[in-house]
Amino acid sequence: MTKEISDPVRRYDAIDKCTGKQKYLGDMHFPGALYARMVRSTIARGKILAIHLPEMPQGYDFVSYKDIPGKNELWMIQKDWKCFAEHDVRYVGETIGLLCGPDKEMLDDLLSQVKIDYEEETPAITIEEGLACKGGAFVGKDNLFCEMTTRSGEDIDKVFARADRVFEETYRTGFQEHVNLEPQSCCATMEQGRYVVYASSQCPFYIRKSIAGLLNLKPEDIDVRQTMTGGAFGAKEHFPDVLAGPCLVACHKLQKPVELVFDRKEETAFTVKRHPSRTTIKTALDKQGNILGMDIDVVYNVGGYLSCSFVVLQRGVFHATGCYRIPATRIHGRGVATNTFPSDAFRGFGAPQTLFAIERHMCHLADMLGVEPLEFKRRYLIRQGDMTNTEGHINERVMLPEMIRQITEASDYERKAREYKPSCGRGIGLSLYNHGGAFTGNGEQVLIKAKCDLHKMADGRVEILCGQTEMGQGFHTAARKIAAHTLGIPFEKIVFENIDTDRVQDSGPTAASRSTQIAGRLIQQAAEQMKPRYDKEEDFTVHVEYQHPEGFPWDQEHWKGDAYIAYGWGAAVVEVEVDPLTYEVKTVGIWVSHDVGHPIDRLILRGQANGGVMQSLGYAAMEVMENKGGKFRQKSLADYIIPCSMDFPMMQTFLVDNPYPYGPYGAKGAGELVFNGADAAFTEAVSKAIGKPICEIPIPPETIEGLMHAQHD
Ligand code: MTE
Ligand code: HPA
Ligand code: MOS
Repeated sequence: MTKEISDPVRRYDAIDKCTGKQKYLGDMHFPGALYARMVRSTIARGKILAIHLPEMPQGYDFVSYKDIPGKNELWMIQKDWKCFAEHDVRYVGETIGLLCGPDKEMLDDLLSQVKIDYEEETPAITIEEGLACKGGAFVGKDNLFCEMTTRSGEDIDKVFARADRVFEETYRTGFQEHVNLEPQSCCATMEQGRYVVYASSQCPFYIRKSIAGLLNLKPEDIDVRQTMTGGAFGAKEHFPDVLAGPCLVACHKLQKPVELVFDRKEETAFTVKRHPSRTTIKTALDKQGNILGMDIDVVYNVGGYLSCSFVVLQRGVFHATGCYRIPATRIHGRGVATNTFPSDAFRGFGAPQTLFAIERHMCHLADMLGVEPLEFKRRYLIRQGDMTNTEGHINERVMLPEMIRQITEASDYERKAREYKPSCGRGIGLSLYNHGGAFTGNGEQVLIKAKCDLHKMADGRVEILCGQTEMGQGFHTAARKIAAHTLGIPFEKIVFENIDTDRVQDSGPTAASRSTQIAGRLIQQAAEQMKPRYDKEEDFTVHVEYQHPEGFPWDQEHWKGDAYIAYGWGAAVVEVEVDPLTYEVKTVGIWVSHDVGHPIDRLILRGQANGGVMQSLGYAAMEVMENKGGKFRQKSLADYIIPCSMDFPMMQTFLVDNPYPYGPYGAKGAGELVFNGADAAFTEAVSKAIGKPICEIPIPPETIEGLMHAQHD
């Protein structure tokens, strides 16, 4: 037993994962299984005229929408994403059918012989093409999947009418691939007359709900079993439905298990990505250069289907003023339909794009006013009790001043910011960021209603029975710690298996950084109820349900109130050197500080910070993913470059202790926060080093070359 909950323990899954003993779905054997290959659209937009299949050897089959006895729809948030395309295709890679059979090589051979006749139509690929309805709108009249406007403070038009100066700039971010190390994988089988779906998934309960209607079943009629999930980052929140649906239909038709495992090429070309974004911020200033208000326009490239993009857009809008107190705001958000692979959940869930924009904007405002960026940001730092852009309030103590002190002292920021002259080849940048923990507004209370069981077994072990998955983030270790610590029994006595929807309570998705904050708290409460009975009774179960804390109003219709009860907070400093000949950027230092309430395990958090910050630096520095004519140009890890440990130096990480009253032992969400800000600090550092404003990421050396040449012209 640990004395203090934050003291690190060895992760229960570390040894098996490090030694390669851990089995993933692709390592498992399903007796009698057929393998599957997806037949996908090769065009970005058009009509399917005919499908020419090669002659199928015995035991091989082609499965399509015609084999669906129920409705051809996957139920994500809405039901627009089809399981199999019927007559129209909206993006390259859209599922048209499944080839199934016993031999993988034979399947590859058959796949190469499938010929599809199309009537091609003009696709819209970029945000601008989508907004202009290039090729004609395919969603509504205006190609908008979703649209919203938030307002806070005085009427923004009046604020601009009395402004002395207006500063306006547009910021852009690109696609990003999750690079979950274990690719997407799924197997649909029948066991004792029930459909059982094995899947590498963040949200087994989502899969059940999404695919049941294909066979006219109820979600409870399908048992979804999570297999060990080797990384997800949002890619396994809704996208596993796109594999599970076709596998289930094929299993139903062929009455055999059907297994589908992607390889890296499919993973790169044919899975969801982070939404590319365009954010325009217009700021009204008075004579003295004080900010009076901001008018913000946010557009996300949603791709061919909606999936959860409206919720992503909402989070983007709610985070668009970052860590700053802005007296009046209007934020207009739009999700535009294009003929690219649908964009979807990715660590940060819409917040990184707008946080990048506001951080760049604050730096450029400071430059324009001749003030040092950090000094300028400090003037507007949001504090407890301040109004948010949805006219809610910051409920917690904001420890940004202390966090800024930690990282500026450790990095010697103030001296370096003073001494490194613009375009001297060296630069240092600082960014501030936050992440609202758990579902937005009253989502936890109204949509999710998390439940959790805790079962004491006769041998003294205690099993956690809730739906939160382990995907590398460490939740199953954190959850065991919470239960063991509360019950006062050894960590090893806690059992927490991979999720089986037949066995556990639905505690909601493993998303929105909510596992520890919401489910962790339920586990603590269940353990508190179990504790007095633990020694007296042999075999019993405690059931707990989520209760929303009182006093945090939210109006989902008008976007008013407390979008989040609590935020994680972050501050990052990045220092770089830019090579004037090769334009390569060498990062020489990274310092970050995070407020995640009271940490459940400091070492897990260090792991999250290391991974999240690297992922964010990759996003800014090197992860170029281009879409030409509907196809991603980058094909594998040979040309989609993600950072490795040689690309960035060891970072120095700090935590502050700021217990959150409604979280387990004071903890709040941490998993996505760590992604939300290092990109902006890096960009600021490069911008200072080359003496050029930068409004767009990624900035690989080619882009930096272009920026520097513009200076010499
Ligand atoms: N860390 C690892 N190692 N692997 C992952 O897939 N996903 C991230 C984050 N950290 C992820 C991760 C995302 S997108 C989310 S929402 C949170 O973990 C979810 O887990 P939590 O609720 O336990 O924070
Ligand atoms: N993150 C991830 N998934 C979600 C969210 C979120 O904030 N809200 C609804 N689904
Ligand atoms: Mo995380 S993007 O909410 O799975």
